[in-house]
Amino acid sequence: MAAEIFVHPQALVESVEIGAGTRVWAFAHVMAGAIVGADCNIGDHAFVESGATIGDRVTIKNGVMVWNGVTIEDDVLFAANVFIADGTHGMARGDVAYKYQGIERVAPVHIERGAWIGQNVMLMPGVRIGAFAVVGANSVVRDDVPGSCVAVGTPARVIRRWDAGTERWLAVEQAPRPGSNA
Ligand SMILES: CC(C)(COP(=O)(O)OP(=O)(O)OC[C@H]1O[C@@H](n2cnc3c(N)ncnc32)[C@H](O)[C@@H]1OP(=O)(O)O)[C@@H](O)C(=O)NCCC(=O)NCCS
Repeated sequence: MAAEIFVHPQALVESVEIGAGTRVWAFAHVMAGAIVGADCNIGDHAFVESGATIGDRVTIKNGVMVWNGVTIEDDVLFAANVFIADGTHGMARGDVAYKYQGIERVAPVHIERGAWIGQNVMLMPGVRIGAFAVVGANSVVRDDVPGSCVAVGTPARVIRRWDAGTERWLAVEQAPRPGSNA
């Protein structure tokens, strides 16, 4: 028998596309039209918007907002308070909209399977995080992160890559930052 879905009495789940065994905790909101796979864990105060797609065995810790168009593949972990940006400029509205015409675009992020996103990370519009990548806490990810790498900092840079031959994480040589004396 398939495991039941658990929805905390204080959670708001409007989607009918939630996989078996998924748990949604207090004050989380999953909108109609969001797709959530099986055996996921969605923490307190998380928000999953219509049009977001979440795979199986995904952990979304407390306070994470997953917007329309975001894709999160299987076995991904989001630590608490990861932020996902999707609109590139965000101000193309109201009286100042004309200034941003042709600039503003919506560019959802995509997280490949098995990736691990540390606490407080900021994912900028349109970035893709490769399979089994690790993003260190508090990083601001501006560029795509390749699979099986560790990226940290602002902007996030790859500091380690997984070597399948030796089955070890190897350090990645850092190029000096533009303008630095290093
Ligand atoms: C990314 C991470 C996994 C790397 O761990 P590690 O492989 O043990 O790396 P180290 O501690 O040896 O650090 C390697 C280098 O990266 C730097 N670094 C590590 N994490 C960093 C981060 N989050 N931001 C900026 N720099 C970081 C270190 O300062 C060090 O730099 P140095 O070589 O110039 O001294 C870890 O630092 C991290 O951020 N973990 C996430 C914690 C978290 O969010 N937990 C939530 C749990 S649900």
